Amino acid sequence: MAPSINDILPEQYAPLEVKSLKSRDLRPSDESSEGQTERGAVGGYDATSAPNVQEMPLFNMPSMQKLRQAQWRVEHDFRSDTVTVPTVNMMQAMIESSFQDDMYDAEGDESVNRLQDRLVELTGKEAAMWALSGTMGNQICLRNHLTQPPHSVLLDHRAHVHCWESGALPVMSQASVTQVHPKNGLHLTVEDVKKHIIADGNIHFPPTRVVSLENSLSGTILPLKDAKEISEFVRNYPVEEGQRPIAMHLDGARLFDAIAAEGVDLKEYCACFDSISICLAKGLGAPMGSVIVGSKKFINRAKYFRKMFGGGTRQPGMMAAAALSSIEYTMPLLPRVHALTRQTAESLRKVGYTISLPVQTNMIVLDLENDGIPPAAFVDYGKRAEVSLFPTGRLVFHHQISPEAAAKLVNALTRLMEDKNAGVALETRKVTGGYI
Ligand SMILES: Cc1ncc(COP(=O)(O)O)c(C=O)c1O
Repeated sequence: MAPSINDILPEQYAPLEVKSLKSRDLRPSDESSEGQTERGAVGGYDATSAPNVQEMPLFNMPSMQKLRQAQWRVEHDFRSDTVTVPTVNMMQAMIESSFQDDMYDAEGDESVNRLQDRLVELTGKEAAMWALSGTMGNQICLRNHLTQPPHSVLLDHRAHVHCWESGALPVMSQASVTQVHPKNGLHLTVEDVKKHIIADGNIHFPPTRVVSLENSLSGTILPLKDAKEISEFVRNYPVEEGQRPIAMHLDGARLFDAIAAEGVDLKEYCACFDSISICLAKGLGAPMGSVIVGSKKFINRAKYFRKMFGGGTRQPGMMAAAALSSIEYTMPLLPRVHALTRQTAESLRKVGYTISLPVQTNMIVLDLENDGIPPAAFVDYGKRAEVSLFPTGRLVFHHQISPEAAAKLVNALTRLMEDKNAGVALETRKVTGGYI
């Protein structure tokens, strides 16, 4: 007998009720409504005869098997937390989403609005706006704050908005940056900001108009205490008459990971910032998208920049519904993801790996160079054990990584370290991937 769909689902994925979409389901519920010209037809349009309406199951066995295969693949993928694939709940949410035009329809799309409202509720900010990616969210926020050069953004020298967004900041906002190396080697503090902030008045130097922070950064936390101290200092920093106070932006691509790990209040954290970009497609596991949050005025203006940057979307409801479902499903799993990350880090440390940064959320950053491990050998040993790795030595955990996959990873890397110590010749060809 052929297996049922629920037989091939792992336990953690909620069982799916396979639905058949009947053409009658598309009929308006109020059949006596005015404008109905004949049975099943409203305003002259007969929904039952639409060409793409078939009596088909919305989920069938091949599509479920494809999803399950993708889930198995990413269960063994430690390259990034962006690699996750939808859960069954997310697929169901996409099917049940709204399909309005988010640009033309005055009220926007219902699923997008629901997602934005949820982010407003969680962060305590006045308003939220859906964006296509983390890069788009960050750059819209920065552009919105940076009105007229000369101006600069103070940030950590490793900041994503500066290093990994294709040089968008000078292109989109005509801004230069002040790159700061945190004195404590981990995250910026108010002392770092005080030392590097640029005041108005000296024509050689573009004044700081935004302080842009990142939490988490390479998996490490920017603690609430430091965010508060920096915010207090920056917002009270004297500026020229007529100039707006220096803005506080947060690249919160993995803010939920950081908040869960530090155990602090999300609203209290968000209160330190004027704008925040939160990625939905990283630890939260959505297929795509980010949400920016800020004041109503800020978000209303951000909508112009989103359109200008090519980010106005037509029927994004499916993606927003998936993201909303993923938030509710994944958020409670984050502590488990972090615990597995810590446990794996401990095992790797025991077999001799050097870990460059504290393991505080979902990342382990190995110092392969220090340990004499060639990047190609690192990737190859992983591949042989069916785990995907980037050659950088950064390992990222997400909600679809299983303890079994983490055990395979530890075994593979233990063998690699043993072989290296035994003088086995390791593969040294040039490899790329991640940030190499
Ligand atoms: C800290 C951080 N910010 C922003 C982004 C950009 O997100 P996206 O890839 O969706 O543009 C990333 C992506 O990896 C990131 O790690």
